[in-house]
Amino acid sequence: MIKSVSKAEKIKGIISLPGDKSISHRAMLLNAMSNGSALISNFCHGDDRSAMINCLNGLGVNIEKIQSNDSEYPNDTFLVEGNSNGDFSIPTRVLDAGNSGTTFRLVSGLLATQNFESTISGDNSLRNRPMGRIIQPLTKMGALITGMKDNSFAPLKIRGGNLSGIEYTMPVASAQVKSCIMIAGTKASGSTTIIQPKVSRDHTERMLKAMGAKISINNLTVEIKRSNLSALDVTVPGDISGAAFWMVLASCHPNASITLKRVGLNPSRTGIIEVLKMMGANIKLSNVVEEAGEPCGDIEIQSSELTGVDIEGEIIPRVIDEIPILALAACFAKGQTIIKDAEELRIKESDRISATVNGLSKLGATLTETNDGMVISGNAKLIGAPVDTFNDHRIAMTMGIAGVLADGTTEINRSEANMISYPSFWEQLSIVTGELEVSAH
Ligand code: S3P
Repeated sequence: MIKSVSKAEKIKGIISLPGDKSISHRAMLLNAMSNGSALISNFCHGDDRSAMINCLNGLGVNIEKIQSNDSEYPNDTFLVEGNSNGDFSIPTRVLDAGNSGTTFRLVSGLLATQNFESTISGDNSLRNRPMGRIIQPLTKMGALITGMKDNSFAPLKIRGGNLSGIEYTMPVASAQVKSCIMIAGTKASGSTTIIQPKVSRDHTERMLKAMGAKISINNLTVEIKRSNLSALDVTVPGDISGAAFWMVLASCHPNASITLKRVGLNPSRTGIIEVLKMMGANIKLSNVVEEAGEPCGDIEIQSSELTGVDIEGEIIPRVIDEIPILALAACFAKGQTIIKDAEELRIKESDRISATVNGLSKLGATLTETNDGMVISGNAKLIGAPVDTFNDHRIAMTMGIAGVLADGTTEINRSEANMISYPSFWEQLSIVTGELEVSAH
């Protein structure tokens, strides 16, 4: 579907975000492995939600959508029944993780603990994303795994059970890989030690700890021992990766004020706030509280004058999903922005370096691709043009925000890609822009 988005004169609004995708997936899967039942409120929206639920249903997990008493989250509450830390049912079909890398890699960790053979696959994009990174450690732990194309791509056939703990030095900083190994580690004999090259999101560590797992963390090293998990009710905070689009919109627009309610503020995810503040953004946090081991609070953003910065090194894994929208912010900043060390972007739902450069160039920005990032000239004057999302939700939303900031009208091809993580995105965009004309053909 092509969506037309036009320049907005004013940006104003209070926005509630869908539940954080990373925390939602972990809450569902770890509770399915626990010894009781748990309520998960403000569960994430979109097709990635269905991917996790379908895979767990395929393993015999009971998940029920319920009407919650929590007036803030009446519609997005699920009751998950744990399997008493025991065996799951043998799936009678291929488990389909759709477009969701997190579902695929976390569920693979669970399959490695089960004493039967099962197959997990996904859509075309997911079948082209590297799975050698989970096959290698899970095989070392004792799982038997076969995949496609040199044994490195989905679909994967996994026969698990009888795992032994390992010490594993991760070649790349990936929270999905780290979580996959930790999930397998909860059922392995001995202890499993993971050494990360850089800090990546630590939602799994926090949730496992809150569920009573034997886990210890020392800087970049995580150690987990065989554990029984206690069910844990989780109220999922709003997704900071979704909030990033509004933060950049309000920062770059000359007449803007946006408040984002109850957003997750885990330090392993707040790289976006740190980078925007370094660029000079006007961002204030308030009402910060902790829920189920995760900090969350409100974020208020006003118009600001941004300056280009270098984004590289340690912060990259903490801002990895926000780089496309940060590239847009850099187009409006004074001076140059250089993004390095972000080669992982090339193997996300699309090649996000090339998709971002393609779209923003069409709108008149001056930016170039490098192997591991981009070089972006600031002070751009964007002018609406036809652009594509490459079927990637984060590129779709980046192009939507670019369309509101550009002169004229931007036509976004395959705009429905937002359905993966943020179904209400276009509607909320039309609300905050007031007179914005959003028309679908
Ligand atoms: C995620 C980890 C990141 C991120 C993805 C969600 C997670 O991927 O890009 O959107 O929930 O663990 P990698 O682990 O591949 O870096």
